Amino acid sequence: PRTAVVIPAAGKGVRLGPGTPKALRELGGTPMLVHAVRATARARAVELVVVVAPPDGAPAVRTLLDEHGLPEVVVVPGGGTRQDSVRLGLAALPDTVQTVLVHDAARPLVPDETVDAVARAVRAGAPAVVPALPVTDTVKQVEPRPGAEPEPVTGTVDRSLLRAVQTPQGFARTVLAEAHTRLVAEGDGATDDAGMVERLGVDVVVVPGHEEAFKVTRPLDLVLAEAVLARRRA
Ligand code: CTP
Ligand code: MG
Repeated sequence: PRTAVVIPAAGKGVRLGPGTPKALRELGGTPMLVHAVRATARARAVELVVVVAPPDGAPAVRTLLDEHGLPEVVVVPGGGTRQDSVRLGLAALPDTVQTVLVHDAARPLVPDETVDAVARAVRAGAPAVVPALPVTDTVKQVEPRPGAEPEPVTGTVDRSLLRAVQTPQGFARTVLAEAHTRLVAEGDGATDDAGMVERLGVDVVVVPGHEEAFKVTRPLDLVLAEAVLARRRA
């Protein structure tokens, strides 16, 4: 395979509230992770899917994917941070892979057109590609206050210059691997994969994201995800 997707799914889903780990929570009766695997595997560019399971949950995820008719998906155990999990997923890729997409299990409804658009941009020569949408809320900068005190506003950011970033993010494999090798050693804590690559001085470009690629983070996001799924099935 030349193009692979790594799906980190090792998180606990603390913000979603107590219960099953987030990737295994069900949407329309099917675990979120299974939706995410199918959504990415459906894309024309994707030839291999690697799922990064909770550190002690790889056998259970293997069984789950087999039960859903996905025996070809590779499963590896993840780590304590998303960055660790991505690194462990990258380590499982065969040498032939040149383009890597990294996609959150927590974005189960990403359209395959978005996945393909990211892969195409990488194959066309961009070393790092992120799908993103314009920011719709006005964004204020504040002086954070502990507790519930009112926070002084220090400025209003020019919204037209901002983009809210989604996944899958796409990379030339060598570039993402290098970012992980170098920055892990420095104990760096970037919040997304492209952020690590930016720190190497590599150019990152944005392509249009999709509103259905939103991340399921809090309980209300589950309500939206169920509604989107129901609309698709209608
Ligand atoms: N992730 C991972 N390994 C970790 C932490 C996160 O593979 N140690 C994955 C999650 O499973 C998820 C993606 O990274 O698919 C995006 O992370 P996030 O939405 O923050 O999920 P969680 O970390 O599970 O949620 P929370 O931060 O609310 O605990
Ligand atoms: Mg998290």
